[in-house]
Amino acid sequence: MSESSTPPELEYEQNTLKRLLGFMIGGPNRSKFAMGVLLRVVALAGLTVIPWTTGRAMNVITEFGGTDELRSWALIGLVAGAIYLVFSFVSDRMFSKMAVDGLYGVQTALFENVQSLSMGFFFKNPPGRLSSNITNDAEVVSLFYTSAVSQMIRSAIQVVMVLVVMLLIDWRLTVISLVTIPFLLGAVYVITRVASPAFRRLQQALGDASGFQEETLSGHKLIISKGRGDWAVDTHDVLIRDVHKEGSRAFLASLMQFPITQTLTLFQNVLVMLGGTFLVIAGHTTVGIVMSFSGYAALLASPLAQISNLITNALNASAGGKRVFEIVDAEPDVSDAPDAVDYEFKGGRITFEHVDFGYRPGTLVLRDNTFDIAPGETIGICGPTGAGKSTLINILTRYYEITGGRILIDGQDLSKLTQESLRSQVGAVLQEAFLFSDTVMSNLLYARHDATEDDAIDAAKKANAHEFIMDLPQGYDTVLAARGANLSQGQRQMITIARAMVADPKIMILDEATSNVDTRTEKLIQDGIRQLMADKTSFSIAHRLATIRDSDRIMVLNGGEIVELDSHDTLMRNRGFYYALYMSQFKGKGPEGSPEEFALDFVST
Ligand SMILES: Nc1ncnc2c1ncn2[C@@H]1O[C@H](COP(=O)(O)OP(=O)(O)O)[C@@H](O)[C@H]1O
Ligand SMILES: [Mg+2]
Repeated sequence: MSESSTPPELEYEQNTLKRLLGFMIGGPNRSKFAMGVLLRVVALAGLTVIPWTTGRAMNVITEFGGTDELRSWALIGLVAGAIYLVFSFVSDRMFSKMAVDGLYGVQTALFENVQSLSMGFFFKNPPGRLSSNITNDAEVVSLFYTSAVSQMIRSAIQVVMVLVVMLLIDWRLTVISLVTIPFLLGAVYVITRVASPAFRRLQQALGDASGFQEETLSGHKLIISKGRGDWAVDTHDVLIRDVHKEGSRAFLASLMQFPITQTLTLFQNVLVMLGGTFLVIAGHTTVGIVMSFSGYAALLASPLAQISNLITNALNASAGGKRVFEIVDAEPDVSDAPDAVDYEFKGGRITFEHVDFGYRPGTLVLRDNTFDIAPGETIGICGPTGAGKSTLINILTRYYEITGGRILIDGQDLSKLTQESLRSQVGAVLQEAFLFSDTVMSNLLYARHDATEDDAIDAAKKANAHEFIMDLPQGYDTVLAARGANLSQGQRQMITIARAMVADPKIMILDEATSNVDTRTEKLIQDGIRQLMADKTSFSIAHRLATIRDSDRIMVLNGGEIVELDSHDTLMRNRGFYYALYMSQFKGKGPEGSPEEFALDFVST
């Protein structure tokens, strides 16, 4: 803990707020901010003139002064009011523009970092939890930018200006006006102390509940088919009860502040009138001045009463901002080496030298794998579920760092290459087809910066996706539902394949890319893929062995080790694992024998 009396938690909140503010009023917005504050000062100067003119006008009336004087005070009041309105408008506009900049800055930072994070991060943070956090937290952060910051500045300026004017006019009335202020601030402090931790817990509870909602929604088919509906409802009930409990505590505390501050403000007005009457009788001041002070007291109390709102808002924003920054600051599991260089494509030779890999320390999923793939070779990969096929792809695309050995790509050590250069040359269609909630066209174009719509349509035709895309309500402009839910799994796979084709990578990887389409469609897609891969190094993991049968070589994985790597014909002649596997898939159609027995413990995914 630091030497100051600030508790560490509060200090952390201050840092988060400072960082949030930086996006809004830091950097290029600094001068805009200064200008906005200046305009606000002018606006509030107009506002502070108004009670003064009312007071003077009142004096003219009580002293039976001329109508000319009255008219000029009215005019000054009107001009002051106009200044207040116009300058407030201009400075509000500036602040709202800065608020948008702030929001944009945070969102961009968030999005950019999420892009750079490796797969490991997403395994640790389920997507439901992630996106609900981002939505809820972005909301409180947005509220901070759009209203709290500009209100805080307005309140601070208003309090200082009004106080100075009051002191200049009459110190005795100023003291009377200030009597209730400590009570007001005390009430505000207590309310904030109760409400803000409650709000933080509410935010957390909301995040948990909506994370669960999203998970159950995306898994609803499974939940229904497994009859786990009751379980989902019960779990949800518990989470919602949490939201309810925390919510009622948080809102009760913050609702109480209005009646309390309202009462105190009224009381303050009564005190000013009462004290003012005595001072007028004693001849120390005039009725008009007392009138002015009644106005000033209100102008002083209202921003102070609002401070509780603003503090609550700032604390919420800091809690939300803290979680947003956790993601912004999350370090990718795989990061570029300090001396990383760009991958230079030289044909696409891939060499594994005694490669070991485990997701967790102590357990190896891939063990001592050594092989060499020549440039332009097509490799089919097969093996039982859990053999490590997808894992092999994950380390080849460097979503994970290997534990031992070396992977060379065109003679260059994979671990010394920049991830970006690698991703632009190595295209992967992974097991989970990922699509953005955007139009089909955008999803296709996302693959390559300079791709044209014609490229996209061309690729869709090759991937056999063009026809069904044209049948969608708006064709290529159809917006896909979240995670592509309005398409069948096979259709999603076809779009992701088309997307990979748009990217036109030098090395291509397909992980069960056509596992969800029927055999006839698969054949059509395969023709397209074959064209695309004609002279490229490629790997395809396939469920149906017929899909990879024509590969130059077939890699057979079992228990994290490569047990066979040869052409289909050779492997069939050798009568090893592959042979057994193949025969089991072509039961009855095979040339001879009954290898089922052997095949039982060897079923490919
Ligand atoms: N993200 C992960 N974290 C921990 N273990 C994993 C992860 N992904 C896969 N595994 C484990 O690694 C092994 C190989 O999985 P995988 O490569 O997906 O198999 P395949 O694709 O051949 O079916 C399995 O035992 C699986 O449980
Ligand atoms: Mg797999």
